[in-house]
Amino acid sequence: MAMKSILEYDTVSLSDDGAALVIIDQTLLPGEIKLLHLTGQNEIWEAIQALRVRGAPAIGVAAAIGLYLAAREIKAGERGAFLERLHAAAEYLNSARPTAVNLSWALRRMERTAHQTAGGAEEIRAALHRECLAMWQEDIDVCRRLGENGLSLVRPGDGLLTHCNAGQLATVRYGTATAPMYLGHARGYGFHVYCDETRPLLQGARLTSFELSSAGIDTTLICDNMAASVMKKGLIDAVFVGCDRVAANGDAANKIGTLGVAVLAKRFGVPFYVVAPSSTIDLHTPTGADIVIEERSGDEICRMWYEKRMAPEGVKTWNPAFDVTDNDLISAIVTEYGVARAPYTESLRDIFCKKEAAQI
Ligand code: MRU
Repeated sequence: MAMKSILEYDTVSLSDDGAALVIIDQTLLPGEIKLLHLTGQNEIWEAIQALRVRGAPAIGVAAAIGLYLAAREIKAGERGAFLERLHAAAEYLNSARPTAVNLSWALRRMERTAHQTAGGAEEIRAALHRECLAMWQEDIDVCRRLGENGLSLVRPGDGLLTHCNAGQLATVRYGTATAPMYLGHARGYGFHVYCDETRPLLQGARLTSFELSSAGIDTTLICDNMAASVMKKGLIDAVFVGCDRVAANGDAANKIGTLGVAVLAKRFGVPFYVVAPSSTIDLHTPTGADIVIEERSGDEICRMWYEKRMAPEGVKTWNPAFDVTDNDLISAIVTEYGVARAPYTESLRDIFCKKEAAQI
């Protein structure tokens, strides 16, 4: 029997019986495709924290499903007490990772649904079930629209560079930064995609180069420190990256190393595009300086992925998981409601006006 491609799996979903969050354990990729069925809040929190499920949109949908599962466990009783326990569960899941705004956005949306639903536990659970499935479907639709909008910025045969994994594995399907690549590929664009390996957790090597090459896209993996050379050689026509939070002024937090790529793109005159669903744009965060950057264990730098430790015992490390790309380095922010350009304070507000108009 032919092996299923990674692209045939949903990154995140609710099991058919509605009792478990189903994810691909991304820490095992590309060597092994293993689905995890998670039911307990502790294991869902751990899966988000340990990056078994990762990428801003994917952790948002995973948390939404996780909160629905929490609601199933909360004993029916007085409505106020039920909502309080739901809030405690949302706070707990939200504490798993601080930078990607999709996590708090998804949990807030689920809680809002609960508050707006008349009745008791049974009615609220049913509404949360519908809402998490709606968010799952929306993620797919939004990524398709990101693909169309991103594709309008490039030409057939272009060389594209991406950093980290803003691919199918970071969303339910298609990805954000990779959505124009998948769409262009389906339309015969013949892109050449360069993937930064993305130290220290290697999302570019383990995930992006895996999913893009599985799709038959011409994919070349490079180490992070080779991005300057491929740009200098003229091999890159555009950079597409995803993001974890866009501030109101257009500063964008994404995987550590993105800022360096943006600086290089400016130096070599390559357009630098951030692809962001509106759920990743946080108008309540004024600038990049206000974004909390997650710091992770130095073990990820010194030991993880190596057969033996590659740094002296006791050496000091600093391991921020994200950096902030200043808005003046960003050529455009691609959203599902159109392409925003500087000044971002105005153009991002316009994007939200379009979003509100579309929802009426
Ligand atoms: O730490 P990770 O792997 O969750 O970081 C992911 C990224 O930085 C992605 O580029 C970002 O979430 C955008 S995903 C569409």
